[in-house]
Amino acid sequence: MKIKSSRGVKDILPQEIDKWHWVENKAHKIFSLYGFKEIRIPIFESTNLFQRGIGDTTDIVQKEMYTFEDKSGEQITLRPEGTAGVVRSYVEHKLYNPPSLVKVFYIGPMFRYERPQAGRFRQFYQIGVEAMGSPSPSVDAEVMIMLMDFFSALGLKDHCLEINSLGCPECRPQHREILKTAIKGQLENLCENCNNRYERNPLRVLDCKNKTCSEIAKDLPKTAEHLCDVCSDNFKQVQSLLTDVQVPWKLNPILVRGLDYYGRTAFEVKSGSLGAQDAICGGGRYDYLVEKFEGPATPCFGFALGLERLISLVPFDQMESIAQHPDLYLVCLGEAAQTLGFKLANELRRKGIFVERDSEGASMKSQMRKADKSKARFALILGDNEIRDEKYVLKLMEDGSQEEIDTSKEYLGILVQRLNPQTVSETTHG
Ligand code: HAM
Repeated sequence: MKIKSSRGVKDILPQEIDKWHWVENKAHKIFSLYGFKEIRIPIFESTNLFQRGIGDTTDIVQKEMYTFEDKSGEQITLRPEGTAGVVRSYVEHKLYNPPSLVKVFYIGPMFRYERPQAGRFRQFYQIGVEAMGSPSPSVDAEVMIMLMDFFSALGLKDHCLEINSLGCPECRPQHREILKTAIKGQLENLCENCNNRYERNPLRVLDCKNKTCSEIAKDLPKTAEHLCDVCSDNFKQVQSLLTDVQVPWKLNPILVRGLDYYGRTAFEVKSGSLGAQDAICGGGRYDYLVEKFEGPATPCFGFALGLERLISLVPFDQMESIAQHPDLYLVCLGEAAQTLGFKLANELRRKGIFVERDSEGASMKSQMRKADKSKARFALILGDNEIRDEKYVLKLMEDGSQEEIDTSKEYLGILVQRLNPQTVSETTHG
């Protein structure tokens, strides 16, 4: 019986992985310019963490978690997102000591039992960022600027940063009541989901995807219209800081996010090239989650982006230039050449050269075809004649030009230099 992969998951194949590494390396580089360091958190955690962290009434907790009992009877969940785990780690390891702004990022798989469709998976990868320990709106702006810098560095176009403010425990209850009163008169026109949300989480009615609901939502009272003075001032500062550094943004008054921990700034980056699942990234401020897990008061700001969606948007012409191809393809003809070639490949790799070789003893024609297909920069041809004459032929694949490498004296250094001048200077000077 052939076993296939489960619904909603996918393999990332060797021919795609260069793109992933390239994007991930860019993230490492750009995030480190802002002082962010990687954190690696577990893929599963106690179910409780997500129920309390993300919120009992959210779709994620109610319908989408992969939860099971382990052999000791503990309720375990495969992480549907990274923020709750980072907060758990922050409290558990007292990262708040000494007090400072803790800046971390993570890259890894998340799991949600959603209905799979283009751009929506049950296992998907996120790059997440959390800045923990400052209430300053300049941190909100700085993290969003870092994200937009990252997108620019990837050559992304056609994306838009949408921001909103969800208010704070001061102003939110008031807005909630006003909103509930407005919704009450519309309940019979709203979908079943919104009727359920009315009591538990009326804010989510604002961003319901149902057509009738979204029409009604246009006239419902928005959070940004009911902010207290502090929230209002904060939100203005975030906007002007973004504008100051020419990061374009758009106010989206119905942006509310699907996780319960947010307050004040919330944002999403959407792409016009993605179809229905158009959010590349989402995040915002969560000032009370650390306290909820018995840590000290720690205002935080963060985001996570979906790597599958992001990678599908990175322009292909840039990808060609980042693909990893061999520096050298060793073409070995005959048994003696195979033995020599095996050792030579090994020596060159130890000097940092990417070498491919044929292990099947194929014909010259077939090996040259393989060299061509591998997109190696050079081919080195070793046959009985070359070994006897102590002269290997080094061929530049691009134009077919050839050079003889004299193997009667020490030649490895010369060869390495031809193949990769940078490596030789590193090995001789380092
Ligand atoms: P989120 O909006 O649930 O936020 O997810 C962030 C991003 O992950 C989405 O914008 C999307 O690109 C991607 N994503 C989500 N679900 C799927 C899926 N089923 N398939 C493919 N991609 C998906 C969070 O997860 C928060 N923890 C973000 C955050 C960090 N807020 C503060 N810090």
